[in-house]
Amino acid sequence: MEILRHVVVVIHLVGFAVLFGAWVVEAVGRRVQVTRLMSYGLLISLVAGLILAAPWGIEYELNYTKLGVKLVVLIVIGALLGIGSARQKRTGSVPPVLFWLIGPLTLLNAAIAVIWR
Ligand code: HEM
Repeated sequence: MEILRHVVVVIHLVGFAVLFGAWVVEAVGRRVQVTRLMSYGLLISLVAGLILAAPWGIEYELNYTKLGVKLVVLIVIGALLGIGSARQKRTGSVPPVLFWLIGPLTLLNAAIAVIWR
């Protein structure tokens, strides 16, 4: 059980890597666009995160306040991706503020995961 949980943590981290990596590629390339890969990364993080939010394969209590905050941040990122891609389809570009919030909010969730115990 413990090993299986660790495997799900790795999948959760893959989701984080795909989301953040896809955002960095666009940011460094100065394209200021949202991509499908970002949404896939978010989806992987969400599904794996929800599976990890159940108390299995561990002997300690989960911090549900922290998990709730992470879920809210993820929903905000999802909204930014949704609004961003709709705008992109309609007008051809994403309002820069939406794009520049996605990376820092993703990092914020990783920081919350690691620093808040
Ligand atoms: C973009 C969104 C997210 C990012 C970047 C993210 C990032 C991370 C990272 C880096 C870790 C590893 C921390 C460590 O083991 O010290 C982690 C663990 C974890 N995350 Fe997330 N997370 C996200 C969303 C979520 C959501 C929405 C949930 C559930 C509501 C969640 C639940 C968990 C749980 C339960 C763990 C601990 C795994 C364990 O130790 O058993 N995460 N997350």
